[in-house]
Amino acid sequence: MKHKSEIRQLLLVLFLAAALAGCEGAPNESPRAASVKEVSLGNAEHGRQLFMGYAHFENEGPPCMGCHSVGDNGILGGGALGPNLTNVTTEKTDDDIISVLSNTGIVISPVMLPIYRDDPLTPQEQADLLAFMKASVGERETNKEWLVFAISVAGTLGTALALGIVYRHRLRSVRRIMVEKAEKELR
Ligand code: HEC
Repeated sequence: MKHKSEIRQLLLVLFLAAALAGCEGAPNESPRAASVKEVSLGNAEHGRQLFMGYAHFENEGPPCMGCHSVGDNGILGGGALGPNLTNVTTEKTDDDIISVLSNTGIVISPVMLPIYRDDPLTPQEQADLLAFMKASVGERETNKEWLVFAISVAGTLGTALALGIVYRHRLRSVRRIMVEKAEKELR
């Protein structure tokens, strides 16, 4: 019954693979909210880097600017799926904001919940982000959609120009071949 033991081995391998895959998908760390002490020690500059994606989150969640704008930030501004956060700290309490960031309190964002539940922000990262959002209050909010538009138009024109230069002799050489062919036929 050699067959049976092979099948058993195969099943064992499959089971182990499934178990390992399960471990991979498990949350990195159970979410924990930043304490009052941690919040007071938040670093606004590090928060800015995390927000913009210049620094990585420890559990590899996506940067906030994918969905939010803050003040006059970044070259092209942030995403528009979430609200602009420039003055959010004057509208919401620290507790409410930490609640959103940690997914542990009463204020929860249904959009952010699934993302940062699986890749939770550490208490220090929450504190840094909160410090950054406090530092942004009152900044001029700029709309950079015109810049994105200008860059895409420039890109299209640039491509057309480059193709024009590369193929500038193309028509002429096609015509020459046709002329030569016609002359040959006449001879
Ligand atoms: C996938 C898009 C997305 C990402 C990424 C994201 N957010 Fe949000 N966020 C939202 C949306 C949408 C809301 C509005 C509530 C809702 O509809 O879920 C929100 C709400 C908030 C609020 C509450 C604002 C209010 O006025 O109620 C805060 C604060 C916030 N986000 C901060 C952040 C920070 C900091 C990050 C980065 C760690 C982040 N968000 C990443 C989409 C996102």
